[in-house]
Amino acid sequence: MFKLALLFFMLFAGETWSAGEKECGSLEYCDEYKSNVHDLYSLQRGLGLYKNYCSSCHTLKYLRWNRLQRDLDIPESILTEDLIGSPEVKTSDFITFGLPEISAIGAPDLTLRTRVRGEEWIYTYLRTFYDDIDQPTGANNLVYPGTAMLNVLSGLQGRQELTPDGRLLKSSDGTMTKEEFDLAIGDLVTFLAYASEPARITRERNGIFVILFFIVFTAVMWLLNREYTKDIK
Ligand code: HEC
Repeated sequence: MFKLALLFFMLFAGETWSAGEKECGSLEYCDEYKSNVHDLYSLQRGLGLYKNYCSSCHTLKYLRWNRLQRDLDIPESILTEDLIGSPEVKTSDFITFGLPEISAIGAPDLTLRTRVRGEEWIYTYLRTFYDDIDQPTGANNLVYPGTAMLNVLSGLQGRQELTPDGRLLKSSDGTMTKEEFDLAIGDLVTFLAYASEPARITRERNGIFVILFFIVFTAVMWLLNREYTKDIK
């Protein structure tokens, strides 16, 4: 009984006091976000944004084009012409967008970044860029102060400034409203979450069947046990 209580305590403690886990770079909390990798259209929109706004600097070098094509249901012509766009690249190649192995400007590979940072970290990071003339890139970030990444999404989001009390204030409009931009970044993070574990789509789907199987199996075994022990009692 004591061991069971200890086990429950440890599980509960891990959930509640996982040291520092809630912290979001230099922010106290990240904005909440939970990806749904079963939403195919969200994944496809995320891929579109990635291709247009991220692929000039960041690779996805642990993911292959043909796996992406299969999982996101991408037609062959769109894959080869719009996404790959080079006859030298095979569909079985890793997704490098022709970038060098090590980025000259220090842009990390993003395949596993949601596993390292967490989805909410990246969701908050991509929405908290603001203008800062003291930075070489002209932009700074609330989550990752002094980041070397340019504010590449300012055309969509609009520009933001930091107020003296540490809040972000919009200084010019982008092509998207705040709600649209948040949804777009959600799609992007969902796509990155998929990239970090493509098997999650099937794993989560199969998991439901496995649990259903166990429930049915337990019920059958319970009935069988009742039948067997009926005469013993
Ligand atoms: C012009 C090049 C460039 C583009 C385009 C770009 N990034 Fe970056 N990104 C960088 C650089 C450089 C860093 C490294 C920042 C640092 O460590 O200070 C970075 C860092 C990051 C990080 C933090 C990685 C980490 O864990 O430290 C994330 C997440 C990220 N980028 C996502 C994106 C996404 C998503 C896009 C597309 C919307 C994008 N980036 C577009 C250059 C770029």
